[in-house]
Amino acid sequence: MAKKKVTAGQAQQPSAGGESFRPLIASDKIQDKIREMGRQIRADFPGEPLLLVGVLKGAVLFLADLARQIPGEVTFDFIAVSSYGKDTKSSGQVKLNKDLDAGIEGKVVIVVEDILDTGLTLQYLLRILQQRKPKSLKVAVLLDKKDRRIADVRADYVGFVIPDEFVVGYGLDYAERYRNLPDVGILTLPGGSH
Ligand code: IMP
Ligand code: MG
Repeated sequence: MAKKKVTAGQAQQPSAGGESFRPLIASDKIQDKIREMGRQIRADFPGEPLLLVGVLKGAVLFLADLARQIPGEVTFDFIAVSSYGKDTKSSGQVKLNKDLDAGIEGKVVIVVEDILDTGLTLQYLLRILQQRKPKSLKVAVLLDKKDRRIADVRADYVGFVIPDEFVVGYGLDYAERYRNLPDVGILTLPGGSH
């Protein structure tokens, strides 16, 4: 029997809860952009060892792909914070759930985040990481919801500026689901709460 190609996105839409997924950025566009970002990051720090700090869990896929586009010495560490819970709106509270495994003093650190929304998470992270005296502290985000910014923070490397919509896929979740979708898309909840 001929196999019909089904992507993870198609396979999950519509899901049981009546949520619907509308593709916004296709996986090949994501990969093209990440290739550019990797090149840019290496061009900014030629010959230097880089430490990528991934913000769990949303940035895992982005970090995995970005790391492979940065030539030369690259190491990883991970940090986990929570601010969202199961809701689609930020609580404004940031809590450190898992710290880095090792110190970052004197290192060139690139914080790798899935999405910059209000900026409260990143503001908190940058504050605690800066206190540890890295040689340099930069931020790479795949997505930037510019219009939603509350905290005065910016990313040094931005994949895509997106509108104020709740997005999932490519690491981003809604209640822990949809992280495995290869594309980023807009999630509409039943009742249209967002
Ligand atoms: P911020 O603190 O408001 O900038 O929020 C950043 C965090 O909120 C991100 O790391 C995501 O985990 C989560 N977040 C913000 N917007 C979205 C979205 O549209 N979809 C999924 N998660 C989001
Ligand atoms: Mg996150």
